[in-house]
Amino acid sequence: MTDTAIDIEALRASHARQYDPYSTATIQEHLDDIADRRENLPMSFSEKGGFWLATTYDDIAGMLRRNNKGFISFPNIPDGVLAFGQKRQIPIELDGPIHAQYRKLLDPLFSPSKVKGMEEQVRQIAIDLIAGFADKGEVDLVPEFAFPFPGTVFLSVMGWPVEDADMMNKWVGAFLHGVPGGTEEETLAARVDASEKSRAYIQAIVDDRRANPRDDITTAIVQAEFDGEPIPDEDLSDLFILLMMAGLDTTASVIAQSMAYFAKNPAKWDEMFADPDDIDAAVEELLRWTSPAVPTRNVADESAEVGGLELPKGERIHCPLAAANRDPKYYPDPDEIQFDRDPHPHLTFSLGTHRCIGVHLARQELRIAFEELRRVMPTFRLADGVEPKEHLSLTWGVEDVRLVFTPQDS
Ligand code: HEM
Repeated sequence: MTDTAIDIEALRASHARQYDPYSTATIQEHLDDIADRRENLPMSFSEKGGFWLATTYDDIAGMLRRNNKGFISFPNIPDGVLAFGQKRQIPIELDGPIHAQYRKLLDPLFSPSKVKGMEEQVRQIAIDLIAGFADKGEVDLVPEFAFPFPGTVFLSVMGWPVEDADMMNKWVGAFLHGVPGGTEEETLAARVDASEKSRAYIQAIVDDRRANPRDDITTAIVQAEFDGEPIPDEDLSDLFILLMMAGLDTTASVIAQSMAYFAKNPAKWDEMFADPDDIDAAVEELLRWTSPAVPTRNVADESAEVGGLELPKGERIHCPLAAANRDPKYYPDPDEIQFDRDPHPHLTFSLGTHRCIGVHLARQELRIAFEELRRVMPTFRLADGVEPKEHLSLTWGVEDVRLVFTPQDS
C-alpha cells in the first residue's frame, strides 16, 4: 500500500477483471475481449500478474507520450517479473538522461537517410532468401522467410557476418520462445546457453572493432562515450542483444500475419499492388492491423491520471498497441483492413521517448519483403489442411503459415 490518499485496494477491486497476456485465444478472440472491455471497463485491474490493462487509443497514447513525465518504462513487462532474472534491458527499460544519451547515439545511425542507403542490401537479402523456395511452389513462411529476413538484415547492417544468421536466429528464438513444447527446465537451460554464447560472440565483435575500427554502426556504438566514459562492455552486450531481438519477432509477425491474411483474402493482395504509389499506405494499414508489440508503463510520480483514474506510484499499466489501433473512435470497422483509410497515426511503433528506433528500417524491410514476395507469388493460398496458429505473449504473431503457389518462369 502506498502512502498517498488513494485507496488503491478499493480502486483495484472496483475495476477487477482478469487479463492473461499469455492466453491461448486467437488474436481476434483476444481483441473481441478487449473491445468488450473498451466499451464496459476501459481500465481494468488483473489480480493475476498485478497490473492494469488500458484499452483505448487515448489512454494508451497519453501514457506513452508521458514517459518521463509521470510514467517510466521500467519494468516493461506486465507482471513486473524481469525476463531472465535480473537486469534492465538497454535502452528499452532505461528512462531519463541516460536513456536520452542512448537515443542521441542510436537515432542518427537508423535515420531515414542512413536507412535509404541500406535499401539495396536489404533487397538482396530478401531476393536470396526467396530464391531458396521460389521454384518449389511451397513455403513454410515463418522459418523460411519471415524470421530469417529481419535477422539477416540486422547482421548485414551491423557489419556482422551474415553467415551467422542461423546461429543468431536460434539464440533469439530461445530468448523469445524458449523450447516450444519443452519443460521449464529445458527452456531455462536453452536461454542460459543462448545468453552465454551470444555474449561471447558479441564480445569478440566488440574486441575486434576496438582493434580494427570500421565505418559501420557497430564501430560507432563501440566507440561512443557518455560523459567522457566509454560504454562498459556488459552494457554494450546488453544493447546489442536488445537491438538484435527488437526487430526480429516484430517484423516477422507483421509479414506472417499479413501473408496469412492475404492467403485468405487474395483480392487484397492484388489491391495492395494496384498502384505502386499506394504501397506505403498499404504497409501502414498492415502495421496498424498486425500491431505485435505490447509495452507496459509504470507510474513514476506520486500519482498519475489514466482514463479518469488517479493511480499511485508503482502501479503498472499494460498497453497492447493493438488495443489502441483497433479503437473504433479513430478506426471505423477496426478489424477490417482498408488500404484507403484516413491515415490517423497508428501506435504500432509506440510514441514518446521509447518510440521504435528501427521504424524507418522496419518500414523499408516490410515494403521490400512484400514487393519481392509478390514477384514470385502473384497468387498463393494456404497449403491443404493447414491453419496458421496465432499466439499472444510478449509479441503477438502467427506460426505455421504454409503457403502454396505456382512457380514463375524467371
Ligand atoms: C515491424 C517491426 C517493428 C515493430 C512493430 C517495432 C515496435 C517497437 C515498439 C512498439 C517499441 C517501443 C516499446 C515501448 O514503448 O516500450 C520499439 C522499440 C525499439 N525498437 Fe522496434 N519495432 C520494429 C522493428 C525494429 C527494428 C527493425 C529495430 C532495429 C533497429 C528496432 C529497434 C528498436 C529499439 C532499439 C527499441 C528501443 C527504443 C527505446 O527504448 O528507446 N525495432 N519497437
